[in-house]
Parts: sequence; C-alpha cells; structure tokens
Amino acid sequence: MRVGFTVNGREETADDVWEGESLLYVLRERMGLPGSKNACEQGECGSCTVLLDGVPVCSCLVAAGQAEGRRVRTVEGLAEGDRQAPIQEAFVECGAVQCGFCTPGLLVQAHDLIERVPRPSDADIREALAGNLCRCTGYEKILAAVRLAANRRAENP
Ligand code: FES
Ligand code: FES
Repeated sequence: MRVGFTVNGREETADDVWEGESLLYVLRERMGLPGSKNACEQGECGSCTVLLDGVPVCSCLVAAGQAEGRRVRTVEGLAEGDRQAPIQEAFVECGAVQCGFCTPGLLVQAHDLIERVPRPSDADIREALAGNLCRCTGYEKILAAVRLAANRRAENP
C-alpha cells in the first residue's frame, strides 16, 4: 500500500508498505531519516520516539498506515534552520550524550516537555522521561540538560 504523511513539514510518501510495517521502519528505511533509533522494537526503550500530531509516541509501535495524512516530527526536525534546538544545545553543553543511541528519543521527549510545561519540576522531568532508557549516562547529565533548556526557554519564551 502507499502511505503518505507530513514529516518535519514536508509531504512524504512511501510505496509498497506492508500492512504491519512500523512507522519507525518507514522513517528510517524508506524516507532516509535514520535519527529515530531502533533498539527494542517493543515500546520499552523510547529510542524511537517521534511526535505524531504533536504527541510523543514510540514509532516502533505505530503501524505506518496509522500515520496516513498526519504530521510526524522526528529528531531531524527539531533544529531551527542551521541552529540546533535549545534542548540539543543543552545536551551538548551538559555532556548528556555518550554513545548517543538513546539521545534522539530523549531529545524529542524533552523538547515536547519544555514546550508544554514552561518550568518543569524535577518530578515532571523524571515522569516525562520515564519511558526513555539510557545505558550510559546515569541520567544526571540528561536531567541537568533538560533543566538548562527549560530555564532558558522560560527566560526567553
Ligand atoms: S525501539 Fe521503540 S521503544 Fe524501543
Ligand atoms: S548515551 Fe548511550 S544509551 Fe544513552
């Protein structure tokens, strides 16, 4: 079947999509957007998180056909032109990236949080990122990065 949706503001289509094919597979393998990562393919790790109509989802659990006619935003679509999104800058500044495998999903999830909640508490941040697993960083630098980006956004909305 043919599937079409908007990705990072661009209309995209994919042909010969199998009914059971995931949105993650279509993004990575058919649309040339490998930022979203495939780690568990079971909705457990969050490395494949994208925004579907503005809501974070595990794209490994979404059938590509479910995205028909909708808006998808991936980690590749967070930057504003040539400039990294504030959450991306904060991750770099805080050293919140090690192997980087979890990073795209964390960035999408954290970006969504600071858009929705101007001054998130630590509990808000932990709850928002609870579905995103990282094997490397111990999470402290990730939390620091989200705090930094949220504070900057609150000061310059
Ligand atoms: S790859 Fe989708 S949640 Fe792990
Ligand atoms: S930086 Fe390696 S899994 Fe998070």
